[in-house]
Amino acid sequence: MAQWVEGTIIANERWSENLFSLKVEAEAGDFIAGQFTSLALDIDGERVARPYSYLTSPGQQPLEFFLYRAIGGALSNALIEKRPGDKVWIKTPANGFFVLREIPPCEDMWMFATGTGISPYFSILNIDEPWQRFKRIVLVHAVRLKIDLRYREIVDALREKYGERFVFQAFVSREEVSGAIRGRIPGAIEDGELERRTGIAMSPDQSHFMLCGNPGMVKDTTEALRARGFTKNRRRTPGHITIENYW
Ligand SMILES: Cc1cc2nc3c(=O)[nH]c(=O)nc-3n(C[C@H](O)[C@H](O)[C@H](O)COP(=O)(O)OP(=O)(O)OC[C@H]3O[C@@H](n4cnc5c(N)ncnc54)[C@H](O)[C@@H]3O)c2cc1C
Ligand SMILES: NC(=O)c1ccc[n+]([C@@H]2O[C@H](COP(=O)([O-])OP(=O)(O)OC[C@H]3O[C@@H](n4cnc5c(N)ncnc54)[C@H](OP(=O)(O)O)[C@@H]3O)[C@@H](O)[C@H]2O)c1
Repeated sequence: MAQWVEGTIIANERWSENLFSLKVEAEAGDFIAGQFTSLALDIDGERVARPYSYLTSPGQQPLEFFLYRAIGGALSNALIEKRPGDKVWIKTPANGFFVLREIPPCEDMWMFATGTGISPYFSILNIDEPWQRFKRIVLVHAVRLKIDLRYREIVDALREKYGERFVFQAFVSREEVSGAIRGRIPGAIEDGELERRTGIAMSPDQSHFMLCGNPGMVKDTTEALRARGFTKNRRRTPGHITIENYW
């Protein structure tokens, strides 16, 4: 049965007006890399809860979450005001099927994220399993502005550790940024720009795609991939595309 555990916020790092990360100390139990929990606050006598992906890997403390403040959003606007020492509720056990055991065998794993949808990938990439299972991993982070490209230090550490087996590609849609593709993921799949820039070809024999974040990106990217012959991954009919919608 689901239970609420009280956590203590030990840091609230504010990256921009609407983007922040919470570090929380809590005994919230075990989870699988890629899963989400719920965070909650008691607001006006009511427990307001929303799902958030773990950015940290199982066993790590403090727990870390990467958040976007939704305009008019009840919980994210309250969480962004929290300070060290403040309390937050965390749900246990964790939930979700955006995990490696749902992924059929493949050589190249493509991980597509918009915004804070990059969190579950960091949780997964900082355990051994994906590096034992896949030949290469391409992490693709699509954001509006350069300031939204956080956690560069994790990307650099993965590059240092795994060399050519790990490729990172940023998309920044609303300004020109060196090294990033200007535009959106589906367009760069359709015109071949993503394969050119990463030097890795997509093929139904070797590729799998995980998609996380903005439901518009998930839908349009799925369509672009289907047009290339990739299929949705379902338990009864394994395929190439595994998704997590954030709203
Ligand atoms: C599995 C899962 C994991 C998630 N993980 C994370 C995470 O790691 N980090 C994170 O930041 N969020 C994550 N989310 C989203 C999160 O759960 C909340 O939806 C988000 O924080 C907003 O909650 P809120 O209470 O502030 O807003 P709410 O009170 O729920 O209201 C949100 C407001 O935003 C509006 N809105 C909804 N969609 C859009 C849109 N596309 N554009 C503009 N406005 C919109 C709604 O209409 C509403 O008015 C996840 C969601 C899911 C389902
Ligand atoms: N991040 C969250 O967890 C969250 C949760 C709830 C609500 N929201 C809402 O989402 C908005 C901002 O979120 P965000 O900062 O994470 O940015 P975002 O709007 O999700 O944009 C991130 C990137 O995805 C691109 N994108 C948008 N729609 C796409 C599509 N259909 N196909 C492919 N790419 C697409 C954007 O390109 P363009 O610049 O070209 O649009 C941008 O490069 C806010 O209005 C917020 O209220 C976010």
